[in-house]
Amino acid sequence: MRRPVIAGNWKMYKTQAETHAFLDVFCPLVAKSKHCDIVVAPPFTSLDVAAQAVRGTSIAIAAQNVHGQREGAFTGEICARMLVEIGCTGVIIGHSERRQYFNETEEGVHRKTKAALEEGLTPIVCVGEILSEREGNLTETVLQRQFEGGLGALTPAEFSRILLAYEPVWAIGTGKTATPEQAAQAHRYLRELAAVRFSFEEASALRILYGGSVKPDNIKGLMAQAEIDGALVGGASLDPRSFASIVNY
Ligand code: 13P
Repeated sequence: MRRPVIAGNWKMYKTQAETHAFLDVFCPLVAKSKHCDIVVAPPFTSLDVAAQAVRGTSIAIAAQNVHGQREGAFTGEICARMLVEIGCTGVIIGHSERRQYFNETEEGVHRKTKAALEEGLTPIVCVGEILSEREGNLTETVLQRQFEGGLGALTPAEFSRILLAYEPVWAIGTGKTATPEQAAQAHRYLRELAAVRFSFEEASALRILYGGSVKPDNIKGLMAQAEIDGALVGGASLDPRSFASIVNY
């Protein structure tokens, strides 16, 4: 059985004070939720505050990006060691917004994933097609390119430590969720890619999260799919009650 993961990606929302206020309400609402891993990914400036606020709970804190080098002259960047030091245990890598607005490439995703793994962080690696690719029947081609380019060169031991997130770009922030069947079909394909590149065992153990307009009222239907191992939630993770009700699906 794969343990479910419910993760909230706050994107560029919430100051330190707002992070505090969120966690004051959220932590008690999920204190008894033992059925899944819970992850919150605040912006860099709130990571420290968040890591301190969740101490003693089972909530994990993830960053939303990391640089691919150990350290160096890279003005404005943050490396994996810095994230570990302030209490992060995971990091989102290759989110479609980073691919779209910050020219993140497969090669970049690969380097960042390696850098995160080297410092013991759990990478949450995102893949997903845009609308024209889905409409052009290119979903599998795109997923294959992103999977192989970002993750194909990992060792099996490294691969066993990542989480994969399938986020169809057309479903992000649009209120247009993929149907549970559409999501499950993409997850099944990603698992096949993992089986071919790594092994059946690695593929069966891989946890694949769905992301794209996940809300309290559609999480149950998504999680009912055997292929869907969790959710990466954007907008609905910004409100503590709404995110708690997703965690407690
Ligand atoms: P929404 O849940 O707001 O569609 O965002 C999904 C997402 O991008 C999570 O990483």
